Amino acid sequence: MTARLLPGGPVAEAVLADLGPRIEALVAAGHRPGLGTILVGDDSASAGYIRMKMEKATALGLTSPHVHLPQDATQADLLAVVREFNAAGDVDAVLIQHPTPPQIDFDAALLELDPDKDVDGLHPVNMGRLALGMPGPVPCTPAGIEALLAHHEIPVSGRHVVILGRGTTLGRPLALLLSQKRPTANAAVTVVHTGVPDWPEYTRRADVVIAAVGVPGILRPEHLTPGVTVVGGGVRYEGKRLLPDVDESCAEVAGAVTPRLGGVGPTTIAMLFRNAVEAAERRAA
Ligand SMILES: NC(=O)c1ccc[n+]([C@@H]2O[C@H](COP(=O)([O-])OP(=O)(O)OC[C@H]3O[C@@H](n4cnc5c(N)ncnc54)[C@H](OP(=O)(O)O)[C@@H]3O)[C@@H](O)[C@H]2O)c1
Repeated sequence: MTARLLPGGPVAEAVLADLGPRIEALVAAGHRPGLGTILVGDDSASAGYIRMKMEKATALGLTSPHVHLPQDATQADLLAVVREFNAAGDVDAVLIQHPTPPQIDFDAALLELDPDKDVDGLHPVNMGRLALGMPGPVPCTPAGIEALLAHHEIPVSGRHVVILGRGTTLGRPLALLLSQKRPTANAAVTVVHTGVPDWPEYTRRADVVIAAVGVPGILRPEHLTPGVTVVGGGVRYEGKRLLPDVDESCAEVAGAVTPRLGGVGPTTIAMLFRNAVEAAERRAA
């Protein structure tokens, strides 16, 4: 069997196309959405991500005020910028680029951020909102995966989704999201991790397997049942080389699989902008 590919590009395009008129309406009402970005240090990959996000923000019609703190910036320096963005009337959403240098406590900076401006949806208040089904920014990669499955008409409602990994940016919020009572969710979700050494027993019984680990090639064909849908969320970088969790031979067993490149990544970025625009809509209202 050769699996059908589930690219993220068309999903991202659909999300961004939906945002276009909403941004225009905000601008017409005198409220141009603003996405503030904070970069601490000289990590070249992080600088590249921020540049790409700022260019995309400009192309979409958002303002993108940016603060670049030096590699030796203190926690107090970062908190001061976070507080400035919290108070800024023209900033609706804020991104603190991760990873930060070792002297910085990223979680403490996130706690300082106004939850309503938390574009990544990772603030504890937003994780609580997600758990309770309350409106608020949803973590971008989980939201992107739900949209990807819906766009490619892979139903999860009433089906068994096994998530490999319970990390706070991906596996755990994804489990909360896909178990919500909504047509594109409503799944029977199982989360497996290092505490479940026989996790392949679970993935082999899944309708959809989502890899959210960060261990290259951890998911292999022998862990799958023929025809299953496989979504690769976890990746590790060695230099510029992207190493996905999903071994490419999984495509010989799966019915559908995200491509090695251009799968979950583009949907994550689209959801970042959806969170920013929704934050602006809430503030404008
Ligand atoms: N594509 C994107 O845009 C995007 C966005 C965000 C994250 N990611 C990627 O998604 C991955 C997960 O991110 P995260 O922040 O949630 O990571 P994390 O906090 O490091 O969580 C990783 C999870 O994988 C589990 N795990 C590790 N080794 C395992 C093994 N051998 N067997 C079974 N489970 C294992 C860990 O289990 P324990 O809890 O038991 O330790 C943990 O729950 C990373 O690769 C990250 O780069 C991608």
